[in-house]
Amino acid sequence: MNEPLTILFATSEAYPFAKHGGLADVSFSLPLAIKEKGHDIRMILPKYHGFNERKHRIYEIHRLSQIPMVINKKEEIASVASSSIHNSKAKVQTYITTLPAFFEMKRGLYSEPETDKPYKDNAERFLIYNFSILHTCLLLGWIPDIIHCNDWTTALLPALIRHYFPEEFSKTKTVLTIHNFSAGQTFTLEDIESLGLHKKIIESAIENGVVNFLKSGIQFADAITTVSETYKEEILNATVDTAGLHTFIAPKKRKFHGILNGVDSYVWNPEKDPHLRKNYSLKTIEDKFENKEELGSILGIECKKEIPILSFIRHFSSEKGVDLLIESLPSLVKTGAVIVILGEGDKKYKTKLGALMTKYPSNVFCFFEFNEELAHKIEAGSDMFLNLSTVEPCGLNHLYSLAFGTVPISFETGGIKETYIDYLQNSKKGAGFKFQEYSKESFLQTVAKALEIYKNSSLWSKIINNGMTLSFQWSKSAEQYLSLYSKLVNSK
Ligand code: GLC
Repeated sequence: MNEPLTILFATSEAYPFAKHGGLADVSFSLPLAIKEKGHDIRMILPKYHGFNERKHRIYEIHRLSQIPMVINKKEEIASVASSSIHNSKAKVQTYITTLPAFFEMKRGLYSEPETDKPYKDNAERFLIYNFSILHTCLLLGWIPDIIHCNDWTTALLPALIRHYFPEEFSKTKTVLTIHNFSAGQTFTLEDIESLGLHKKIIESAIENGVVNFLKSGIQFADAITTVSETYKEEILNATVDTAGLHTFIAPKKRKFHGILNGVDSYVWNPEKDPHLRKNYSLKTIEDKFENKEELGSILGIECKKEIPILSFIRHFSSEKGVDLLIESLPSLVKTGAVIVILGEGDKKYKTKLGALMTKYPSNVFCFFEFNEELAHKIEAGSDMFLNLSTVEPCGLNHLYSLAFGTVPISFETGGIKETYIDYLQNSKKGAGFKFQEYSKESFLQTVAKALEIYKNSSLWSKIINNGMTLSFQWSKSAEQYLSLYSKLVNSK
């Protein structure tokens, strides 16, 4: 190994502390995979409502108990406590930033849970959090080689370094990972004018009158990564929505690198998963059925081999395909399948799904919550997993499904393109099903074909086998990140 690097992984969510989507899983697994390779990586995230000092083992750091910052001529005080994330091989020091009025006193991470409406002061919240991250490094006297930013919520860090602390962080390189462009909140000029930001930073974030922190991040970060190679191409070719930034992005194409996410084998591994009634592997795949039975008992139904269970685990939004799911549910019910839905999000979706659950009490089951344990039980207990996202930068749940012998049916986009082969296109290597046209008809036709093949247990076992033998190791992604970090650190 070359010289160990020092890396700060800056994020706005991380399992097991706070989870909105896949970023939380990546924020847990990637730093650990990098730590396993002997580097000094630490993580930082805000303290949200519901953090529990005892449960999350959060300890005060005396030196960081008062971090005074002057932002826009106003004094703000942050404090930073210490916790950690770990697996059986590594432990990553985790800094928890307390800014009570901005984070802890609100019930959601980015939006009001009831309405899913973004908080009005999100620009200010995350600007102050970004400032506090740099102050934390300064107070610690720990200036990392790399600051790894994630999505819009930490995308201002490269600009803040450039304009406020150029000397202090003169040796630090910045990487910005885009997990999902369209999840990036945009603001109006009025939203941020009152924040007293350096004129150059505002300029770097504005495009056609719209303020986008991601734009500033793309401008100033030393490298940009996307969570799959395909998503990188989709961004560069503007086949996905980049909030009007295409002309700005195109000339920066050399800064972009696609690095696929992985599956955390400490967390998503049916052989060792503590949440399952019965652990299983490819060799003991028949034991998967005991988990289907357990899922059946949770749903209050009797499970039969010939009745497939289809699952959908997502944050409810139109991009994640909830509209298509709702539209298709009556037809899915007609096939006799059982459909299990787990997730949180927009109230309008919960109302519609709730109504369908009442209408089809023996086939449609919804759980409106984020429940990690139940997510594992559903992955293990279901036969097929539905990924209906219109845009999917990488997608993690379908990867977990592949590892669990739960056959994915997905719209072919982003990470779906490069992670598994469609059985209907290649019956030798196919590990799941895909549909290429985003419509109810095309989705239902694909489901119908999958259900037909499901009846043939030897064909089905082959598909499961193809999926379970695929490997998405975080260790491989970590190596790619490390090689990028090293290149940056060794460049002038
Ligand atoms: C976002 C993307 C998803 C990706 C995840 C983690 O949630 O929508 O595709 O897997 O981030 O990178």
